[in-house]
Amino acid sequence: MYILGIESTCDETAAAIVQDGRRVVSNVISTSVKEQALYGGVVPEIASRRHCEYISATTEQALADAGLTLADVDAVAVTFAPGLIGAVLVGVNFAKGLAYGAGKPLVPVHHLRGHIAALYLTHPELKPPFLCLVASGGHSHIVQVEDYTRFKILGRTVDDAAGEAFDKVARTLGLPYPGGPSVAAAAKTGNPKAYRLPTPHVEGKYNVSFSGLKTAVLNEVNVANMKGQAVHVPDLAASFQERIAGILADKLLLAAADTGAKQVCLAGGVAANSRLRSLINDGAQKLGAQVYLPQLKYCGDNGAMIAAQGYYEYRAGRTAGLELNGLPTLPIDYE
Ligand code: KG4
Ligand code: ZN
Repeated sequence: MYILGIESTCDETAAAIVQDGRRVVSNVISTSVKEQALYGGVVPEIASRRHCEYISATTEQALADAGLTLADVDAVAVTFAPGLIGAVLVGVNFAKGLAYGAGKPLVPVHHLRGHIAALYLTHPELKPPFLCLVASGGHSHIVQVEDYTRFKILGRTVDDAAGEAFDKVARTLGLPYPGGPSVAAAAKTGNPKAYRLPTPHVEGKYNVSFSGLKTAVLNEVNVANMKGQAVHVPDLAASFQERIAGILADKLLLAAADTGAKQVCLAGGVAANSRLRSLINDGAQKLGAQVYLPQLKYCGDNGAMIAAQGYYEYRAGRTAGLELNGLPTLPIDYE
């Protein structure tokens, strides 16, 4: 079964064809990230406008790369929540038009469920149940994936998402957007023990909090400025990365130990972070759990992950009519 997946929740306009939820046949991503970087973050209206311009050609390219036409596709899957609403609506309405015109089923996909499904593209043998940390620019959840369309949230951030913390710290350090890759690059030559940064206290055993950590980085910069000095950017980037990766890994591994998880996974844009990957890899192996990490090309937003999850949503009978609306927020465990 071929599913066309369409994604437009942030600054990537993406379309892909995936066969049976596992095999990527084509995967095309157009992005406005360079333009967004001029503003130090995503400007929602610019994102929406670029989606409008790119979405048709991106989808045509995905079909062409697969050597298919719309008639060969079994269903059109689209991210309908959560995300920048003006951006989400472009994808939703485009997918509706395609589905209607071609007489194909329309399958709504939750963005974070899509990030988790990216793991199926990298590891064809992976099946639920598994424990997964989903960390992106907008969300940080520890999720029990009970089945392909059944999720239980064990923990979440009480303030900033992990990716958002990277983005804000990058800005504080004068590093470019997106902050995750630029902080990670700066951290390469830094000493992770140079700055003592706090592990913020948080209510809830598996919850995380990053706003105190972000403020601590800002304080280091302000204190240095007041003394007429400058912070050592690679050292501060490395110290921040070490702390945030440590907090995320500790919470995931605690949840894994408590629940006796046999499979431990990582997903979302922040899953590209090599320090986080290695902490989770080593920690989960010590617990005797199997570790699954997504390939770097499937960590960030893409259409293949939406097509993969779309396959499982479709098989569960979760199709939508043409009244489908986009939503800015929606919990991953929605019914
Ligand atoms: O999943 P994603 O592509 O989009 C959202 O759904 O938000 O995640 C984007 C986030 C950004 O905040 C970006 O800074 C972060 O993922 N990110 C990283 C890395 N690569 C991207 N964070 C840490 N280390 C990275 N290597
Ligand atoms: Zn995402």
